[in-house]
Amino acid sequence: MMGPIMYLDLDGQGPRYAQLIRALKGAILDRRYAAGTRLPPSRALARELDVSRNTVLAAYEQLQVEGFLLGRVGSGSFVANVGPGGPRKLPANALVAPLSSFARRALANTDGRHIPGHQHQDLRYNLQYGVPLANPLLASAWRREVTRAAEHVQLDYPDAQGLERLRVQVCDYLARRRGVPAEPEDVLIVNGTQQAFSLAARVLLEAGDVVALEEPHYRGARQVLVAHGAHPRGCRVDGDGLVPSALPRSARLAVVTPSHQFPTGALLPLARRMELLAWAARERSWLIEDDYDGEFRYGGRPLAALKSLDRDGRVIYIGSFSKALFPALRLGYMVLPPALREAFVAAKWLEDRGSNTLEQAALAHFMAGGGFERHLRRAAVALRARRAAMLAGLARHARDALDVVDSNAGMHLTAWLAQANHGQCEQLVAHARTRGLGLYAIAPYCLKPPTQPGLVLGYAGLPPADIEAAMRLLGRCLRETGLVA
Ligand SMILES: Cc1ncc(COP(=O)(O)O)c(C=O)c1O
Repeated sequence: MMGPIMYLDLDGQGPRYAQLIRALKGAILDRRYAAGTRLPPSRALARELDVSRNTVLAAYEQLQVEGFLLGRVGSGSFVANVGPGGPRKLPANALVAPLSSFARRALANTDGRHIPGHQHQDLRYNLQYGVPLANPLLASAWRREVTRAAEHVQLDYPDAQGLERLRVQVCDYLARRRGVPAEPEDVLIVNGTQQAFSLAARVLLEAGDVVALEEPHYRGARQVLVAHGAHPRGCRVDGDGLVPSALPRSARLAVVTPSHQFPTGALLPLARRMELLAWAARERSWLIEDDYDGEFRYGGRPLAALKSLDRDGRVIYIGSFSKALFPALRLGYMVLPPALREAFVAAKWLEDRGSNTLEQAALAHFMAGGGFERHLRRAAVALRARRAAMLAGLARHARDALDVVDSNAGMHLTAWLAQANHGQCEQLVAHARTRGLGLYAIAPYCLKPPTQPGLVLGYAGLPPADIEAAMRLLGRCLRETGLVA
């Protein structure tokens, strides 16, 4: 049912009733007004368009005669069914102006993952990294928090740096859990890690600047930095994480995951952390510490974040609520060195005037009331069980084909295909898909294909029984593709 007012663009040519007829016909033929839509009463439309009521009545009458409208006495005028068709669609390549170099790099770098619906794959068992842990208790707790926040919603533009009470909670959390000393004025609330990388590119980089990435690394970071014109340089990672001597000279910035190398899972030892900091001080470069899943560790003592060792103000710390809560939330935070604070807040203000206040307020209250910590404890128990099911299943069904990397944290495991080449790995992924199993190769997380092919196996999205079944199916796919006897 159409509201009382409709958008109509009169072309100003000739009598008003003829202009109105043309505008209504155009809208009906473009299917902007679907069959059955009720047109506004003539009096209301006349008032809206500042024409006489008779002008509108004359137009409606003519359109009824021509079959565009159906009139029902006493109940108004309705759009008739004018058959199949739709708005005139311009071909996607009918551009009148060239795209910016940013847009061209963005399109070349996103592998089509920005296209709606790409992730809804019809798979029985999807081991895609990034699929969240579904938790009904979190859903109900979150609904309560959002409802409560909506009752106290602040209507004005928010503080672009983030709600102060959320920044206070983030500082408290970081001090207790990650050993990071931060004051609320050091924190910038962002729309997820992805925005943090994008702001970092705007604030710190010129097109052509060299950026050091771990090899393999988080694809989301590379994509946005490259779209902004950075030249990525891959740096070797071994069983202990990033090898500091592999860092290039004259890089403006290095992106590192010291707590849980992405995706191999290594924990960077203290000596290497100190070398990284010395490199940044020597090269006058910035270090972005992406602490994306530091809240979930299943053994061993966590090391404090790299940021806690930063004496020269060279580390930009990024945390996300995508893993700790859920990725649809699109909230994360940065802890910024004092020298960068104002420029980052200015960039954030220009970009979106600040993150959504309602969800920031809900989250601040959730954290202050202890609900967040309770959720983390429960999530860690569930994830531990899923991880154990995957490890047991891999040992039972894929031991002869896959070398599982030892890692004690997070929501995924990495496994190398010991005796296969990249072609065989692709074949395995394609074959598994036909059997309803979603497997994902490590190669897209690398600048250059790794010497050995491997898989990134996400376990957060499936309950243990499904993971067991998925591992059985993986064993079968390995046999069917000849990767094990
Ligand atoms: C290494 C790494 N960093 C960050 C993120 C989170 O990104 P965001 O906060 O944009 O959801 C992820 C999630 O997949 C990740 O794997």
